[in-house]
Amino acid sequence: MSSERLTIAVQKSGRLSKESLKLLEACGVKFNLHEQRLMAHSTSHPIDLLRVRDDDIPGLVMDGVVDLGLVGENVLEEERLERSIKNQPSSFQSLRRLDFGFCRLSIAVPKETNYQGLTDLNGSKIATTYPRILESYLATQGIQAKPVMLTGSVEVAPRAGLADAICDLVSTGATLEANGLVEQEVIFRSQVQIIQRSESLSDEKQKLVSKLLARLDGVQLAKE
Ligand code: PRP
Ligand code: ZN
Ligand code: MG
Repeated sequence: MSSERLTIAVQKSGRLSKESLKLLEACGVKFNLHEQRLMAHSTSHPIDLLRVRDDDIPGLVMDGVVDLGLVGENVLEEERLERSIKNQPSSFQSLRRLDFGFCRLSIAVPKETNYQGLTDLNGSKIATTYPRILESYLATQGIQAKPVMLTGSVEVAPRAGLADAICDLVSTGATLEANGLVEQEVIFRSQVQIIQRSESLSDEKQKLVSKLLARLDGVQLAKE
């Protein structure tokens, strides 16, 4: 998109959506949101919001399809590993770490499992939406287990007989609790980052980005 408007990808619906919009609004960027629409135009700045699945945001920025993205480090790291395995470039600029979207990617097992330690995972199947981060962790720990890729409802996999354990995001722990799972190993810690595509932007757009970042720093400072 080589429009004159700065394009920012944000999560459409999920843990990060509300906070992402709140942050942009706190920076003085106003939007006219229609729940169902993919695009939202700012009424105060030459900015367009692209509302997509969080998993798609790293790729959109890395491919230069959008200028900026607000994205969890979990999906960012997964996409980076995926591209490195496929020998595809994954460049982007990390502008700021933002103080929301805190969570951890953890391995959890059913509460009936008598879990003694990592080696118990040898030969097991682990359901996850983050197979690359999981594989890389298992490799460094010398554990032979099989990631089972699920894009959703990972927490029901053990009960459904699809896996022995899961590796999923944990924030409050309510999802694990509700599904009779116990967190055992934290393998990755995540928060939100604002990232920019690596190809340079027009002077106009880059100026707008600098202005946004200055406001963002002010907003984050005021919260401390
Ligand atoms: C994560 C994870 C759990 C939930 C955990 O999903 O998959 O469903 O959050 O949070 P809790 O510990 O507070 O219960 P997420 O919101 O990232 O949505 P997604 O799986 O649809 O991407
Ligand atoms: Zn997701
Ligand atoms: Mg989920």
